[in-house]
Amino acid sequence: MDKIRVVGGRPLEGTVRISGAKNASLPDLCAALLTDEPVRLSNVPEVRDIRTMGRVLAAMGAEVDFRVGGVVDVKAGSLTSVEAPYDLVKTMRASVLVLGPLLAREGKARVSLPGGCAIGARPINLHLMALEKMGATIAVEHGYVEARADRLHGAEIYFDTVTVTGTENVMMAASRAEGVTLIQNSACEPEIEDLAQMLNAMGAKVSGAGTSEIRVEGVERLHGASHSVIPDRIETGTFVAACAIAGGEIEIRACRPQHLRAVLDKFREIGVRVEEGPDNLRIRAPRVIRPANVTTQPHPGFPTDMQAQFMTLMTQATGTSTITESIFENRFMHVAELSRMGASIAENGRVAIVSGPTALSGAQVMATDLRASASLVLAGLAAGGETIIDRVYHLDRGYYRIDEKLRGLGADIERLT
Ligand code: EPZ
Repeated sequence: MDKIRVVGGRPLEGTVRISGAKNASLPDLCAALLTDEPVRLSNVPEVRDIRTMGRVLAAMGAEVDFRVGGVVDVKAGSLTSVEAPYDLVKTMRASVLVLGPLLAREGKARVSLPGGCAIGARPINLHLMALEKMGATIAVEHGYVEARADRLHGAEIYFDTVTVTGTENVMMAASRAEGVTLIQNSACEPEIEDLAQMLNAMGAKVSGAGTSEIRVEGVERLHGASHSVIPDRIETGTFVAACAIAGGEIEIRACRPQHLRAVLDKFREIGVRVEEGPDNLRIRAPRVIRPANVTTQPHPGFPTDMQAQFMTLMTQATGTSTITESIFENRFMHVAELSRMGASIAENGRVAIVSGPTALSGAQVMATDLRASASLVLAGLAAGGETIIDRVYHLDRGYYRIDEKLRGLGADIERLT
């Protein structure tokens, strides 16, 4: 199991290139199931979760070719199975995104319940409620969702909780359903817009993506397409945080500043200098980091996937900050590890109170989930001495070679295999 070793104290400088968005690539790959024609995705990040999704699709009989430079070809000519097996789903809950496409294309699907994960129970009841409204018969037994639908029909769906993959599952199912589907209180994340763009390139009729009401007019069949995945807004935010905490000045390329407006505004509020271009950012660390309060929200609010990284930053702020996690019920696992490095954080349910600045000292720490592991790398950049981060497979699920990218910016960081 790989570890990452960071020695803190070095300011960052230079240029880093952002990879494609993991959380856009995953639904985009599943959308390829909606046609028997070839689909080509580019700017796909070569991260662990993408490989896993490739295995899920291949297990169903799709041809999946990972080419050089982030190009992935998928041809779901004829499927030999409509099952997403437990041993794959348990490693990546986003496998549940095959449910909508399989029901739309094959009229049946057998998908393992994803089960909880470190950050919360993460049920999929809203996905199932919506698909039932579209005419699917859903049974949940032996840990699997057994879904059947002779012909999905359009429906009016209201999500009482905003759900990103729930919205995506319904968009894909509705794209080939009979009639019109209206999704109200839909997720507005950029990844939703990216999926809509790809579906429309395949001949679907999706409108309103990016707003809280999406309309999908079902069509008989979808054809192949080529689609370039949007940049990863969370990787972008993670590098802004890295520069803010380590000091220095960096340029971030191949990113989309308008996809992380709330994050950039929050960084400006604490003193980070942020200059925006159309697809790049120039970041200069502040001499003094000001404290701030943040509450995670669905897009366009401050994203929960940036909460752990921001908390690390607040350990260096000159004062008290409050961080409220409103999306997931257990997304403060990084608090214990940061405290072991010297942070002063009081947890009270979904609110964490961070007192700063506290000198962080390097330690042996353990990653628990994807973004918590990123927050530990950031802490290592600011800590005195050496930090060894264990279980970096969590990191590799969603960050493409983050150690190499940070080393390219001058950080003293290496992977211990
Ligand atoms: C997506 O997860 C992302 N994953 C997550 O990123 C991200 O943290 C999350 O959205 C929130 O932005 C992918 O896109 C692959 P939700 P998702 O459904 O869709 C509750 C990362 O680090 N809920 O929007 O699973 C749920 O429990 C990952 O890259 C139900 O109650 O999240 C949560 O409290 C982590 N019933 C809230 O809604 C449901 O049927 C939001 O969850 C579905 C969700």
